[in-house]
Amino acid sequence: MNHSINFWAVVPAAGVGKRMNADRPKQYLDLAGKTVIEHTLLRLLSAEVFTAVAVAISEEDPYWPELEVSSHEKIITAEGGKERADSVLSALKSIRTVASDDDWVLVHDAARPCITAIDIHHLINTLKADKVGGILALSSHDTLKSVDGDNIVDTLDRKHIWRALTPQMFRYGLLKSALEAAEGNPAITDEASALELEGMQPKIVEGRPDNIKITRPEDLALAQFYMEHQND
Ligand code: CTP
Ligand code: MG
Repeated sequence: MNHSINFWAVVPAAGVGKRMNADRPKQYLDLAGKTVIEHTLLRLLSAEVFTAVAVAISEEDPYWPELEVSSHEKIITAEGGKERADSVLSALKSIRTVASDDDWVLVHDAARPCITAIDIHHLINTLKADKVGGILALSSHDTLKSVDGDNIVDTLDRKHIWRALTPQMFRYGLLKSALEAAEGNPAITDEASALELEGMQPKIVEGRPDNIKITRPEDLALAQFYMEHQND
């Protein structure tokens, strides 16, 4: 390697937010005076590690061009796709002439506005010497049950079960080829699963519990609570 490694952020933001049941996609709902996606992007930008941030936006999205951050010099707009993985692949393709295969990409959900610079740097510092990469994750405090209908069939060993968060950090070339190989496969709900299908074993890095994903209406109040108690 005779060039310096760049870090890129990729933000899938082309979902409709069905479970949120609001009048617009959840990334455009107000949270403490700004839209959810503005919080997310401003936090990624203020981590000061990314060469650029590629954001996947739906073709029919009238809200994005209205936001000041959409014309920020480090923001690249890509076209969203049918599923999250399609949106991520489209954003990766949008930087193909500027990114190198061994550069790092951190994929982060637009719907996780409480991401901290602490978590971003923790993930990068833990994995930057790794071949494959890995993801922020949380262990479960609750006892976990495997069920069939409403019948418990097994109690799982908590040691072996983690909840996958984002950012998920992988080498540009590996991630792009894994997502291309997995195109159309509904089992690919995060980046790590695409690499797992290729036989690789991404690492987990313990993340902060305040990095929640806005999914249902009650999550907005929780995100606001966390933001008020984060001292950054
Ligand atoms: N996403 C995307 N392209 C899609 C689907 C989802 O870029 N075709 C993005 C969402 O905008 C979100 C992230 O992927 O930032 C995580 O997805 P999720 O939380 O499931 O968001 P939605 O798909 O919008 O919500 P829902 O599943 O409730 O409809
Ligand atoms: Mg979804």
